[in-house]
Amino acid sequence: MPQFRVNGHTHELAPSREASLLHLLRNELGLNGPKYGCGLGQCGACTVMVDGVAARSCAIPALGVSGREITTLEGLGSRGAWHPVQAAFEAAQAAQCGYCLNGMVMQAAALLAREPHPSEQRIREELSGNLCRCGTHVEIVRAVQGAALRMAGGAPS
Ligand code: FES
Repeated sequence: MPQFRVNGHTHELAPSREASLLHLLRNELGLNGPKYGCGLGQCGACTVMVDGVAARSCAIPALGVSGREITTLEGLGSRGAWHPVQAAFEAAQAAQCGYCLNGMVMQAAALLAREPHPSEQRIREELSGNLCRCGTHVEIVRAVQGAALRMAGGAPS
């Protein structure tokens, strides 16, 4: 049976050939951090990390990532032990309806893991494929800048 590594745990599951990774995460494993938005790989709401790289889980066949390291929002941090990106988003109040938040946080965490000191322009480029209909972009960019500062050991913002 195929094995799936999700948030450090191994699961043996047999998804259908058509099942997306998003379906497997939400419907088989009960991980509701990644959201269903467009279902077409275009909005970013379903973003997870595959081997540390941000990926659109709605557009990835589950069977295609068997054996790879999947990280969801639930695996990034937890209440009382937030990942610096989660802590910075909370501090910056960078959410309104919150539906895009999973994607913004996962995309930002993947960016900061490989580029610890991105410019504002790089942050905007990186998040340009993550849609937010509330218009909270200013706070979101500020949160990512704050997360970079936290990860560098600077003062939280
Ligand atoms: Fe996957 Fe929109 S739901 S990109």
